[in-house]
Amino acid sequence: MIEAAPAATTAGAPPLLRVENVVKHFAIGAGFIGHAVVHAVDGVDLVVNTGETLGLVGESGSGKSTLGRVIVQLYPATSGHVYFKDVDLTKVRGEKLRRIRQQMQMIFQDPYASLNPRMAVGDIIAEPLHNFGLARGKAAEKRVQETMRVCGLNPNFINRYPHEFSGGQRQRIGIARALVLNPSFIVADEPVSALDVSIQAQIVNLMEDLQDRFHLTFLFIAHDLSVVHHMSDRIAVMYLGKIVEVGATAEVRDRPLHPYTKVLESSVPVPDPDLEMARRPILLTGEIPSPVNPPSGCRFHTRCPIAQQICSEVEPPLERKSEWPRFCSGFPWTPTCMPRIRRWPIAKGSSPCPIRAMSCSARASRSW
Ligand SMILES: Nc1ncnc2c1ncn2[C@@H]1O[C@H](COP(=O)(O)OP(=O)(O)O)[C@@H](O)[C@H]1O
Ligand code: SF4
Ligand SMILES: [Mg+2]
Repeated sequence: MIEAAPAATTAGAPPLLRVENVVKHFAIGAGFIGHAVVHAVDGVDLVVNTGETLGLVGESGSGKSTLGRVIVQLYPATSGHVYFKDVDLTKVRGEKLRRIRQQMQMIFQDPYASLNPRMAVGDIIAEPLHNFGLARGKAAEKRVQETMRVCGLNPNFINRYPHEFSGGQRQRIGIARALVLNPSFIVADEPVSALDVSIQAQIVNLMEDLQDRFHLTFLFIAHDLSVVHHMSDRIAVMYLGKIVEVGATAEVRDRPLHPYTKVLESSVPVPDPDLEMARRPILLTGEIPSPVNPPSGCRFHTRCPIAQQICSEVEPPLERKSEWPRFCSGFPWTPTCMPRIRRWPIAKGSSPCPIRAMSCSARASRSW
């Protein structure tokens, strides 16, 4: 049997994971004045509490995967600290790091690319057991078959190859490979993005079941906010290497603070046909800027519908809002910005608010 981790204790407990001012830059190619640098992650602070699912959302290229990889130490951080159970992973090496790494696993987006096509499924799932020296031979096989069973795979298929499985089954193999080490924390990097919608629900349900059964903590990376709303206790929004907002799922969904969060939330379809008809997605102009040369000041200023001159000059600080550790690095820093948003009328047809969304008319009780 796979052992369950100790029960989650969230009340008053220190966070399982603390990310402090993490920076990850990649040096690429050589230009006229030396190497160009990709500012993939640029000063991120984040906590993940024991037993929760923290959803990490943002456009493609915003640095989500890089942050996830830095957290599980697949990439070394350029600077900053990653504390797991109060141990600074950027400082530990060797056997101690290996033992901690065992408790942190990653599920990858593409179930086709992330499985070695030349290895049988049993060997793929057993590989982490061998790497960490935890089991070999019959003991490893027994553990693999148990893990396959809890992940909804037929343990008799242990000798089959990845191409013999469907996309959903392959993702179950990826989940089994992460689960076989009995981790307490999993970074799931877009685990359902490559799957058909009908299969996505099965994988999401599986992850929720496994979380309950084994008291797992998830960092759930996705760009589909509907899935993130369903899965997450809290949501962090990332834009061009920075976290722009963090909050409880209902707060972020119903009362997004940062203009970028409003844009993302406005694009989420709602199941109610009347509300869906009234939904007014906010369309962003242009693409996410290059992280090689990110915009000055607020990085969102080149696309923000309410940007002012000062936004391109000064980087707004993160600000704590409400009782949740909720931050917004957007408009609250400037007195001319936040009050304006707060005063805008809610819906009634012709609001002058340039970032007015479905939620303005659909949820008339809400105030900005
Ligand atoms: N190994 C790498 N070398 C150079 N640039 C990278 C590397 N990995 C990611 N990047 C760049 O970092 C930025 C963030 O990428 P990524 O973390 O994959 O974003 P996301 O997961 O949000 O789509 C992108 O511009 C990407 O091209
Ligand atoms: S600081 Fe300026 S550009 Fe950035 S989100 Fe706020 S209003 Fe928009
Ligand atoms: Mg990614």
